Amino acid sequence: MTDTAPPRLLRGRILNFSALPRDDTDRAAYRYIEDGAILISGGMIEAVGDYAEIAPRAGAAQIVNHHPHLMMAGFIDTHLHFPQVQVIASWGAQLLDWLNNYTFPEETRFVDPDHCAEMARHFFDLLTSHGTTTAVAFCSVHRSSAEAYFTEAARRNMRMIGGKVMMDRNAPDGLRDTAQSGYDDSKELIEKWHGKGRGLYAISPRFAITSTPEQLEMAGALAAEYPDCHIQTHLSENHDEIAYTASLYPDAPDYLGIYERFGLIGPKALMGHSIHLTEREIAVMAETGTKAVFCPTSNLFLGSGLFDDAGLRARGITNAIATDIGGGSSYSMLQTLDQGYKILQLQGQKLHPLGAFHWVTRGNAVALGLEDRIGTLDAGTEADIVVLDARATPAMELRMARAKTLSEELFILQTLGDDRAIAETYIAGAPVKKG
Ligand code: GUN
Ligand code: ZN
Repeated sequence: MTDTAPPRLLRGRILNFSALPRDDTDRAAYRYIEDGAILISGGMIEAVGDYAEIAPRAGAAQIVNHHPHLMMAGFIDTHLHFPQVQVIASWGAQLLDWLNNYTFPEETRFVDPDHCAEMARHFFDLLTSHGTTTAVAFCSVHRSSAEAYFTEAARRNMRMIGGKVMMDRNAPDGLRDTAQSGYDDSKELIEKWHGKGRGLYAISPRFAITSTPEQLEMAGALAAEYPDCHIQTHLSENHDEIAYTASLYPDAPDYLGIYERFGLIGPKALMGHSIHLTEREIAVMAETGTKAVFCPTSNLFLGSGLFDDAGLRARGITNAIATDIGGGSSYSMLQTLDQGYKILQLQGQKLHPLGAFHWVTRGNAVALGLEDRIGTLDAGTEADIVVLDARATPAMELRMARAKTLSEELFILQTLGDDRAIAETYIAGAPVKKG
């Protein structure tokens, strides 16, 4: 990893996960250190533990004291759309109208490389100011959008995953590729960016509605050629979408069966939304290790439906969680957890605060197969860290005066927090929020 950040020793309260905690008592799953330290060198975490134990190893490292704040691994957003920074907060439509009326017209602007570069700067500023250090994004259909995305990610030394969307039908002029050009452009981008620095490529057929069978076949060919690339798409988000998809692929057993037929499922495949699944789809996702991605603010904003987290987990599916900007209405993974908590409440499911913060850090890293590199504060992993201030606003400060436990603090952070609660964000050991 290229890195220019000088060695640092971060002092503060530390929370680090090694598994999904059931509750506070599940101490094998997490470590909390009241006066902790993270020693960072070359962009990597060299040691983590009690301050008294780590401090003698600091050498020439700059010491930064973050007390009384809480340090944990940076947040990971597993599904969002780079070209939708000026679509977020568009009124009054559900999925298909929202795509046709707001999203597709906006995405056509990304044919212009200057627009892409400007939006990339805003997009990455927004991620890091909200404590997100890794994200998996859809770019637009234009190669220029993915170029701008990976160029900006490399400039900031961020571990980012993304890909240009492949879409060759049911979209306006200026927003369609062809089966061949989608394949060729994706392949060139993979060769240029996948594994370069911290960049990773996700093969990105948008969804079955905007891809012909020929295009999905080409996407499947790419996935077979590049098995360590992720695959990302959308699945069973909205009832009208599902009905339209079935009419376009009348021979498929169900929505997932389309992706299955073209080799687009498996442990590297991220299925955005996965709300209205059939019994067969659930069984196939579980068998093949295909991931479901819960997008709470988007599912509420677009009126899409209630994601059955406990049901899918019970069947052995690994669920990721994400903002889905710009169908989603907040860049904050804290706000995403808040809305996720409420969606689960409506179904009688409980999201424990420790489980919630595990989800947006190590849990999402596990879903991406990247837990040996990101998502924890373990020695030998990349130094992407968020520093959380649970007293960031007057309402939070007032509520914190009554908080007695770590779990209460976490719940206050996720319920009342947003970018104001992000005191600092470190990317590969370098502070990027306050600089
Ligand atoms: N399905 C296909 N494209 C999109 C998109 O951009 N956002 C959402 N929420 N769903 C989609
Ligand atoms: Zn999406």
